[in-house]
Amino acid sequence: MCGIVGYTGERQAAVILLEGLSKLEYRGYDSAGVAVRDNDGKIEVVKAKGRLSVLEEKTNGGQALSGTCGIGHTRWATHGEPSEGNAHPHHSDDLSVVAVHNGIIENYQELKDKLIRKGYQFYSETDTEIAVKLIDYYYKKYLGTPVDAINHAMVRIRGSYALAVMFEEYPGEIYAARKDSPMILGVGEGECYLASDVPAILKYTRNVYYIGNMEIGRLGKGQVTFYNLDGDQVEKEATEIQWDAEAAEKAGYEHFMMKEIHEQPKAVSDTLRSVLRDGRIDLSDVGLTEEDIKEISRIYIVACGSAYHVGVAAQYVIEDLAKIPVRVELASEFRYRRPLLDPSGLVIVISQSGETADSLAALREAKEKGIKTLGIVNVVGSSIAREADNVFYTLAGPEIAVATTKAYSTQLIACYALAIQFAKVRGEIDDEDYTGLITELETLPDKIGKIIEDKERIQWFASKQAAAKDIFFIGRGIDYAITLEGSLKMKEISYIHSEAYAAGELKHGTISLIEDGTLVIGVLTQQDLYEKTVSNMVECKSRGAYLMGLTTYGNYSIEDTADFVVYVPKTDVHFSVSLAVIPLQLMAYYVSLAKGLDVDKPRNLAKSVTVE
Ligand code: AGP
Ligand code: GLU
Repeated sequence: MCGIVGYTGERQAAVILLEGLSKLEYRGYDSAGVAVRDNDGKIEVVKAKGRLSVLEEKTNGGQALSGTCGIGHTRWATHGEPSEGNAHPHHSDDLSVVAVHNGIIENYQELKDKLIRKGYQFYSETDTEIAVKLIDYYYKKYLGTPVDAINHAMVRIRGSYALAVMFEEYPGEIYAARKDSPMILGVGEGECYLASDVPAILKYTRNVYYIGNMEIGRLGKGQVTFYNLDGDQVEKEATEIQWDAEAAEKAGYEHFMMKEIHEQPKAVSDTLRSVLRDGRIDLSDVGLTEEDIKEISRIYIVACGSAYHVGVAAQYVIEDLAKIPVRVELASEFRYRRPLLDPSGLVIVISQSGETADSLAALREAKEKGIKTLGIVNVVGSSIAREADNVFYTLAGPEIAVATTKAYSTQLIACYALAIQFAKVRGEIDDEDYTGLITELETLPDKIGKIIEDKERIQWFASKQAAAKDIFFIGRGIDYAITLEGSLKMKEISYIHSEAYAAGELKHGTISLIEDGTLVIGVLTQQDLYEKTVSNMVECKSRGAYLMGLTTYGNYSIEDTADFVVYVPKTDVHFSVSLAVIPLQLMAYYVSLAKGLDVDKPRNLAKSVTVE
């Protein structure tokens, strides 16, 4: 979902910009560009369609561009096809105003019509060019400062934006403006940085500011000044980034995804330990008191993609343990369906990035209705983390691969901890069950590690599926929640069509798609539903399906039915998602590898979907 970088200081900007953009490639893009202001004040713009390497070639690795102030961008097209002309930076016709943008200008057409009436012409199909020329219009009309011009534009623009703007008449300065799209500002010795995400500037500084919504930042001479929409200066505290640089590198693995699969035992253990005090769950850092917990009438879990799949699993666990009704919703649906929310309900928004546009909008919808909100988020200081009433930080560390693994696993842990604590506080479980559940949770990291150790066997089976056209994942209850994530992992990195299906529903239509050799993966961790799902697998087998069973050690009878079986260690029935998902992550990874695909940066996808 696009990347923005900016640098102003004593060093040559272009190389720093390109390095920063390379650290943001995981966010997904289709073109790139940089603008650098050279020492006699001229701003040079260079853009290229395709991978960053094309831009690097055009600029001779940045050496061809001189100047100590610049901005850069990797574009994920929303308005206007991926092309050099539509790539950012965009600029006024006289190059006096040059900018890059992440987000969507929703009222771009009305603004374009206005500017055309004022004599403006347009060279691209993008909404961004319109925003830049609107800033230029106000800059020239009111002859004010860049802050004035940007303020006027922000009042008129509807949509989302992280903007970085250079003005020819203001050498050495970059202006940032933000609404909903992510952006951080960094400060070094006599230098300022701007980026969509931490990895782009971590090499240079850990000293960052989180620019707020509808705020402007002025970067120059090693300091950042903030302004609100009235143009008044606002004071902000800098934050020290805790990430370590190698944590954001591959650490010897071929892909970030495999590294992050291997980091799951530690991520799960760290997240669990963050809320354990003397063997009991302590949510004081999350900010939920026992009174809060007792008052919760019902829970709404809202998220997208894999985070949504965590919510589907959490619904079973929370309802079963805490006896609180739970409704799970896709954020993109929740935000527009005018949801009827119980005033004493709790809305839980799950998001790895904390910047997913739909999830952020859903959070705001809930807050507008006065409902208490809790964010389960992996990125400190992200929008959802800052705007939710309460935050449960997952400690997965930086997750770079587009396909989530360790963040997903730590989100599950957060949901289990909430379910157990809610159940205890509300008197639904006794102390013995409480400590028993916590003790079982503490065994999960080792059990996950054991499954990963067995990955070669999964690699062998996965490499045989590279030619598969359709793969079906079926399960019942919590096993159905597992199939949702297994199917998405397979689709998003192997590009093989896949469906997750409630096993009992298959015969109501979709079983018509089963042909000779169709791979059907039955997930069988719920003992009480085991036989039922086996029957559904047999129904598929009798129509030619090739069966893989995924179950716990001990269920050896499955060997009579399935052609290939993967076993995971036993655990409490509520926590089986954390174990059964690991072989499915590995399987998707190895199928993608067998197909020679870009595992970490799959086509069309972005790590954080910050546009609608
Ligand atoms: C999962 O592998 C995908 N990358 C995607 O579905 C992701 O889970 C979804 O976009 C939500 O992202 P978030 O957790 O950052 O909000
Ligand atoms: N909407 C802008 C465009 O299509 C920005 C997209 C992005 O965030 O990269 O150029």
